[in-house]
Amino acid sequence: MKFPTKLETLAIHGGTPARAKLLPYGRQSLSDADIEAVVEVLKSDWLTTGPKIAEFEERFAAWVGARHAISFSSGTAALHGAAFAAGLAPGDEAITTPLTFCATANCILYQGATPVFADVSPDTLNLDPGEVAGKISPRTKAIIAVDYAGHPVPLDELAELAKAHGALLIEDACHALGAEYRGKRVGGIADMTVFSFHPVKHLTTGEGGMVATNDPRRAETMRRFRNHGISSEARERQEAGQWFYEMVLLGFNYRLPDFACALGIQQLKKLEANLARRREIAALYTAAFHEIPGVIPPAVRSEASPAWHLYPILLDVEKLTTDRAQIFAALRAENIGVNVHYIPVHLHPYYRDHFGFRGGEFPVAESAYARLITLPMFPAMSAQDVDDVIAAAAKVFSTYSR
Ligand SMILES: Cc1ncc(COP(=O)(O)O)c(C=O)c1O
Repeated sequence: MKFPTKLETLAIHGGTPARAKLLPYGRQSLSDADIEAVVEVLKSDWLTTGPKIAEFEERFAAWVGARHAISFSSGTAALHGAAFAAGLAPGDEAITTPLTFCATANCILYQGATPVFADVSPDTLNLDPGEVAGKISPRTKAIIAVDYAGHPVPLDELAELAKAHGALLIEDACHALGAEYRGKRVGGIADMTVFSFHPVKHLTTGEGGMVATNDPRRAETMRRFRNHGISSEARERQEAGQWFYEMVLLGFNYRLPDFACALGIQQLKKLEANLARRREIAALYTAAFHEIPGVIPPAVRSEASPAWHLYPILLDVEKLTTDRAQIFAALRAENIGVNVHYIPVHLHPYYRDHFGFRGGEFPVAESAYARLITLPMFPAMSAQDVDDVIAAAAKVFSTYSR
C-alpha cells in the first residue's frame, strides 16, 4: 500500500471518493448452506424450541469451552438472564463500564438494581480493575465487564476482585466470540459470559444471544427464566404425553426459534475461518495505521488475542488540525462507512435524568469517546476493500495532519 506523496483533493471538498460505493462498518456472511438449513427447519414440525436449540447450545458450549450454554432471543435478553441468575435485585449494585452499548447497563436496571460505573483503561478501553476496586461496596453483587471491540478484559484481576467481595463476574462478550485470554477462549472463564448474534457479530441468528456458564444451577435458572419461569418445555411435555407444567419463577418469553438455531449451527462451522479473516484485516490495518500521523491503532495486551468485532482507532488530536466530526464526515464522503462506538452510557439522557450524571465523571472513557472512530471490519471484506479503507484514511489524515 502506497501513501499519497502529494495531497489529493478529499471527496468532501469535491474530489473523487476512495471508492464508488459505501463500505459498511459491519455485515453478515450467509452462504446457500446457511439458508438451506433454515428452510429445512421451516418445513419441519418445530419452528420454536425444537431439536435444534439443544444442538446449537451443546455445540456452542463445546466451542467456547463452557459446560452449559443457554440461548436467548437477543444479547440483551441474555444479559437480562445473566443478571437474573446472579440474583441482582433492588438494593444491589453492579459495577460496569460506561464505554459500551446501553444494553450492558440496562440489564442491571431491569432487575431493579443500581448500575455503578467505573472508568476504563486508556489502552484497551476496558474496565480498569483499579477503578472497579474503588467502586466496590457491601452492596456490590456483580461486576459486568465488556470485552470492548473484542479485546478480553483482565479476567484474572476482575475475577479475583469479584471473589474477594462475594460478587459474581459477568463478562459481556457480545464483541468477543472467539477472543482468547491467556490462551483460553472466553466463555468458560467468568461466572457467566454473554454473547450476541446480531448480524454484525461473529455469528448471526438474525437476532439472538447466549449465556455460557460452568454452573449447572444458574444454567437451569436461565433456562426457566427465558421460558416464562416454567419448569418444562412444551416439546418435552408433548413427547412425554404429559400436559402438566408449573411456573416457578417470574420469567419472560426470551426463546430463540428453532430456525434461528439452525442458522447458528451453520454459522458456528465458519467461525474459525471468519475469525482468522478478522485477525488478518486487523493486522493489515494496524501495520498501515502505525505509519499514518494522527491515528492511534487499537492496543493489544500480551495476554490477549482479540476477536476484532470492531476496529476502533483513536485520533491523536495533537497531530491533527481538525476534530472527530470533520474526520468522520471526510471518511464518509470517501464512502468508508465509519461509525462511533460508543456514546458513554452515563451521558445518555435517560441516565443523566435518572442518576444525575453531567459529564466529567469518567474522564478516560469520555476523552476516548471524543476521539473514537470505528472503521469497517467484517470477514467478507475483500483485499480491495481493505486497501480502500487504508487509502481513504491516508488521504484524509494527511490532509488534516499538522
Ligand atoms: C457490548 C454489547 N452488549 C450487548 C449488546 C446487545 O446485544 P443484542 O443486540 O443482541 O441485543 C450489544 C449489541 O450490539 C453490545 O454491543
